[in-house]
Amino acid sequence: MHYGEYLQLEKLLDCQDPESTKLGRTAHDEHLFIVIHQSYELWFKQVLYELTLVQELLGGEAFDERDGGKVAQALERVLVIMRVLIQQVDILETMTPMDFLEFRDLLFPASGFQSLQFRLVETGLGLRKDERVQLDQQDVHLRLKPHEQESLRAAYAKPSLRQSLDAWLSRTPFLDHGDFKFRDAYLEALGDMLEKEAEIIRTQPQLSEADKVTQLASLKNAHNMLDALLDDEAYDKLKDEGAWTFSRRGLEAALFINLYRDEPALQVPFKILSQVMDLDESMTNWRSRHALMAQRMIGQKVGTGGSSGHGYLHAAAQKHKVFGDLFALATFMLPRSALPALPKSLHEMLHYHYVSKMG
Ligand code: HEM
Repeated sequence: MHYGEYLQLEKLLDCQDPESTKLGRTAHDEHLFIVIHQSYELWFKQVLYELTLVQELLGGEAFDERDGGKVAQALERVLVIMRVLIQQVDILETMTPMDFLEFRDLLFPASGFQSLQFRLVETGLGLRKDERVQLDQQDVHLRLKPHEQESLRAAYAKPSLRQSLDAWLSRTPFLDHGDFKFRDAYLEALGDMLEKEAEIIRTQPQLSEADKVTQLASLKNAHNMLDALLDDEAYDKLKDEGAWTFSRRGLEAALFINLYRDEPALQVPFKILSQVMDLDESMTNWRSRHALMAQRMIGQKVGTGGSSGHGYLHAAAQKHKVFGDLFALATFMLPRSALPALPKSLHEMLHYHYVSKMG
């Protein structure tokens, strides 16, 4: 085996073919523009590869808890790749808007809009069509080639990471354990805490009366969201309105895992929950970074793909989030000192059955 053959470098390094060169007026920066897009696509390929493994492990009928480490490792890899993808924008920003103008007109109507792999990443994570920024008459997917649209349709038909994660969470067994009902114990503890917060607002001398009314209303709203989170009927209503996307049971389990994360059996699930939130955050960071870069390159001009340009990209960065429900749970956290104690038998179930001692 030879290095170049193994990596098929002849093929790989023979596909940078600037349009400006074909026209006999080479624009120096077009080579970088091509290489950077190609390296993004290669990394998207690896991200999809890792997410496929995560799906295989997490998306089945049952999840073998011993695979938790593998899921966390694959997600960790995706997160590191995402960090590189965000930083890579720096390289492209060594190109100035005027350098870009040397070849931009040759790109129309090509655009990152038509990146099938990017759409597959979004879809694999769980972004639904109806959660997208409304663009124009034409669905963003229709900008793909027909066979690519087919691949995307196939991806939509499969469970997404959000759905698999939700299904896994919904199967969490510890929420009802004998007489212990997590939601009852928790509601009582949280009620006390929210009451304390209300008291702090009421007695805060720096706040005007109007501010107090606003803050108390926001606290009441949090309370209502929580009531719904723990009540099937109220929850379904809010879910229909789009306030939540996970199942009620799945979110209740996510809350339990967050609160009792110190228990050994919950540490890997907690890590996975944190990682998917990190993933959502890094997608948002990439979108924001890309939007700013686009603004810097083209100002207020429309994109080569026909969107409003920076306006669309900025809106997508705000809206295209998949695990927002998990972020919203932060409203309902309790300090460790206020956590309801778990019954002894449940506590033992969540523990390793050995103790390591010195000497
Ligand atoms: C000069 C550099 C770039 C500019 C000015 C730019 C601009 C834009 C604009 C305006 C859009 C919106 C669609 C449109 O109307 O065309 C877009 C979409 C997109 N671009 Fe770029 N882009 C640049 C570089 C890149 C790079 C290096 C990548 C890496 C793959 C990339 C990936 C994407 C993706 C995936 C979308 C779709 C985003 C979405 O729909 O949420 N772009 N780009």
